[in-house]
This record gives sequence, structure tokens and C-alpha cells, in this order.
Amino acid sequence: MKPFNEETVTEVHHWTDRLFSFTTTRDPAFRFSNGHFVMIGLPVNGKPLLRAYSIASPNWEESLHFFSIKVPDGPLTSRLQHLKVGDKILVGRKPTGTLLIDYLNPGKRLYLFGTGTGLAPWLSIIRDPDTYERFEKVILVHGCRQVSELAYQDLFKTLPEHEFLGEIIGDKLIYCPTVTREPFPRQGRITDLINDGRLWNDFGLPALNPAEDRVMICGSPAMLRDLKQMLEERQFKEGSTSSPGDFVIERAFAEQ
Ligand code: A2P
Repeated sequence: MKPFNEETVTEVHHWTDRLFSFTTTRDPAFRFSNGHFVMIGLPVNGKPLLRAYSIASPNWEESLHFFSIKVPDGPLTSRLQHLKVGDKILVGRKPTGTLLIDYLNPGKRLYLFGTGTGLAPWLSIIRDPDTYERFEKVILVHGCRQVSELAYQDLFKTLPEHEFLGEIIGDKLIYCPTVTREPFPRQGRITDLINDGRLWNDFGLPALNPAEDRVMICGSPAMLRDLKQMLEERQFKEGSTSSPGDFVIERAFAEQ
């Protein structure tokens, strides 16, 4: 059996000249946990060229969704960005990753920190009913350079009215966008929001603390390093697939 399925692209959306997303069919036998990533790609010169992508759709949906950066000379994304409806794409059969609520200790509040396409795993996790069974509040923080990069605004607006998730989510989900390189009501890096307390003060929440808060982080290597250090300074312990902790991290899979 081949290590990947061949799926068909059913939708493509270009958010900006740097960001796009696409939806594909899903093999009915393909199972994953919300927050997982999977290898996806295209055949290039007769060989599969694959990269890791967080699955941005929840595992109860019939299709798969991915949120991608466009790197002009990136081996895969320079090709992927030209995807059209009806095109075929390879999707690995073994989803994996550390951004699972199972790898977190019990807590009151779940903070999801993502920059750029590091938003992708949260789009799956915030549509998982289990997330709201485990946590009283879920605070999704998306940091971008430009306002136009704050993708999925419609999803965040309509989710509280979703036919079956709406009731489960209630007032538990808080969406916290922040922009660094142009005017916006909330400006600054996620690290700045923690340093000056806006992250919790803006929402009337208690200060970030390891007794009650759990954190998931997805972004660039520099962002992961800085946030990991800030959490460790506050006595948060990192979790892994083998032992749960107070926070878990994963790199957003951008092509360099
Ligand atoms: P900034 O504009 O100050 O660099 P990128 O597109 O480069 O991945 O950046 C996405 C967002 O992440 C930007 O708002 C960027 O802020 C921010 N960012 C970059 N490095 C860090 C970091 N070390 N910690 C927190 N946020 C970061």
C-alpha cells in the first residue's frame, strides 16, 4: 500500500499574495486527531515532493482543509499555489503531532498562540467539542504582520451560531487578533501582550498562571523559542506525546 492517498482539490481561496488555503476530498478511512499535521504534496519529476501541513479542518468534517504560505521559490508552495479545483494532491496516511489537548494537563483555560499560518491547527481544535468539555475558556490568539493576513474572520464570526457547535461553544471561545506592522485596535507581538498583560486584562481574565492555564503554540522557530522561554519563566512545564504538560509547541510548517 502506498504511504499516501490521492485526493482531489474541491476549493481554493487566495487570502493575500502570501497566503492561500484549499479544501480536498478525504479518504473515508483517513483518521486523525484535531491538531494533527500530515505530509501533503505533489508528484515532481515522478517523485512525491511532500511537506508537513497542519490539518485546519476538524476531524468530523468530510473534507480536509489546509492553510498555506506561498514562497515564490519554495519547492512545494511555488507549485501548490497554482492548485485549481479538480487537481490531485497527495495526502500522507499517518497524521501525527504534539498539538493535541490529550497532551495537556487538566486546566481551566486554553490559550492557543499562533502566528501566520500557525493559526491552522487552532481551526481544527476550536471546532472540536472535546475542547470545550475540557476547558472553561478557549482564547485563540492570532498574530500577523498585516490586517489582511487575519484570515478566517467569517469563521470566527459565525462559529457561535454553528448548528451543533454553537451551543457547545457558548461564550467559551475568545478570538484575539493582533497585528504588528500596521494600525489595528490591538497591536504588538503575542510576547508583548503577555509582557504588558493585555492578553488577559482585555478579556477580564486572571493573569497567565500554570495552576489554571494551558497553552499551545504554533509559529516560527523564533516565536516558539521566545514564548517557550516566557512560559518556562512562569513555571509552565512542556508536554509531549509521551507525558502531558502545561504547554505544547509545534513549528508552523513554512517552506524556507
Ligand atoms: P513582527 O512583525 O514584529 O516581526 P512572520 O510572518 O514573520 O512569521 O510573522 C508573523 C507574526 O509573528 C508577525 O506579527 C511577527 O511580528 C510575529 N513574530 C515574529 N517573531 C516573533 C517572536 N519571536 N515572538 C512573537 N511574535 C513574533
